[in-house]
Amino acid sequence: MKGRFTIERIPAPLASLYEKASRLVIRTYYSQVAEDILSRCSHGLILDLGTGPGYLPIELAKRSPAVRIIGVDLSRPFIRKARANAAGAGCSERIHFEVGNAAHLRFRSRSFEGVVSTGMLHVLRDPVSVLRECWRVLKPGHEAWIYDPARVSAYVDAAEWKASLDPFERLMNRLLPLFVRLNPPRSLTRQQVAAWIRQTSFTQYTIEGQGNEFKITLIKQSETQGNGHDQKLQWKEP
Ligand SMILES: C[S@@+](CC[C@H](N)C(=O)[O-])C[C@H]1O[C@@H](n2cnc3c(N)ncnc32)[C@H](O)[C@@H]1O
Repeated sequence: MKGRFTIERIPAPLASLYEKASRLVIRTYYSQVAEDILSRCSHGLILDLGTGPGYLPIELAKRSPAVRIIGVDLSRPFIRKARANAAGAGCSERIHFEVGNAAHLRFRSRSFEGVVSTGMLHVLRDPVSVLRECWRVLKPGHEAWIYDPARVSAYVDAAEWKASLDPFERLMNRLLPLFVRLNPPRSLTRQQVAAWIRQTSFTQYTIEGQGNEFKITLIKQSETQGNGHDQKLQWKEP
């Protein structure tokens, strides 16, 4: 898996196209993921890996005054945009965005009450290292949730999105097929995901199918729960 050619970060000229698409699905996608996460973890520090324009952290912060969120992304243009979006939503005090690589996080072990990621797993060069980092930075007894591929595109009204593009973005949109050809979308199988998880210290996990999206829940056992290998693969058909 490691070393497969893949462009992890959305190239800067295409970032605003993605940002405009994801802005259109705040209500239909990010708000639902936020509700889902807060039903499992409604306070403490949450890490969003591959945060993009930051809409998920903003939806989390708007819904629960007891959570603080750190969003990390490889892309500097996205981090700039995410900061501006959080400021616009009045949530800057409880969200911090920074450039970073999810495979090598700067955070101390056992720092977070929750780790989340939407739409990043399928673009990763080294997914096992990222999953290991999720385990390392989680506090024992807490969970990571990975949604992939994000259903963003399924919810976007293409006509509305195209109408929102400025002339430069319309030009960049014509380059999109070239980018897709250079970096064809990868589809994951549950077996592949389970094989990656087995290379980490997570011993409890579920993989659910929700429509065309996986939701992977990884549980870092609390110290009193022992360390037996009781990997669990649950596949709930959509
Ligand atoms: C399809 S976008 C999803 C963005 C956002 N989570 C969302 O749901 O809209 C994938 C994001 O993952 C980021 N990314 C890819 N590999 C990464 C890595 N190793 N570390 C941090 N971010 C990464 C990309 O820069 C991009 O912003």
